[in-house]
Amino acid sequence: MLTHLAVIMDGNGRWAQRRGLPRAMGHREGVEALRRLVRLCPKYEIRYLTVYAFSTENWKRPEAEIQTLMLLIHEFLDRELIVLKEQGVRIRILGDIGPLQPALREKIKNAVSTTAGLEKLHLSVALNYGGRQELLRSAKALAKRALKGENPDDWREEDFAGELYTGDLPEPDLLIRTGGDTRISNFLLWQIAYTEFWSTETYWPDFGEKELAEAMTAFTNRQRRYGGV
Ligand code: FPP
Repeated sequence: MLTHLAVIMDGNGRWAQRRGLPRAMGHREGVEALRRLVRLCPKYEIRYLTVYAFSTENWKRPEAEIQTLMLLIHEFLDRELIVLKEQGVRIRILGDIGPLQPALREKIKNAVSTTAGLEKLHLSVALNYGGRQELLRSAKALAKRALKGENPDDWREEDFAGELYTGDLPEPDLLIRTGGDTRISNFLLWQIAYTEFWSTETYWPDFGEKELAEAMTAFTNRQRRYGGV
């Protein structure tokens, strides 16, 4: 069973360059691919979808591109929130939205709170997210608990995992990366310890049902042994 799918949506820029278009058009088409995938999840009985929208490293991009990405998230929420609610999609954010523009932060908070009771699909958007930053944050939270009197010797892996942004989410079963690279890029470092990895040359804006079905078939044919035999 594939319960939780995680995706590194790579290749938007190259998709656009190949067509002689500005990179922004690649990101715009990338949002369309995300909308398609959200709609496909119920058909494939995927209950959790986690996507990498903006990393802590993406602040190094040109200001105009950062603004485009933020605008697209804004537009996505304006346009899609009603539909997402109808589809029973719960939205969560993994990452620190503190540095985002106040208007976008409010829109995100509203989307998160008004979808909080829904559970057909849990859509987690990694936004200003970095895996190492998340691990450090969890370590700090535990350190604070120790200062309040908890004994670190009593802690188990679940205590550390519980302080991650993904605290109450299951670990991903499959991680897909589009765009041809086979890197993790600081995504879900703790959570993917036993996750299957599948990459495709297809650029993210071209990702659709054909590619999802291919990934699902590859996943189904793998044996997950979790260190056993
Ligand atoms: C990587 O492609 C893609 C990103 C950094 C952004 C992904 C974001 C979206 C698809 C939009 C998210 C929107 C919502 C609503 C969550 P790249 O630009 O690095 O591509 P390249 O490797 O070809 O340059």
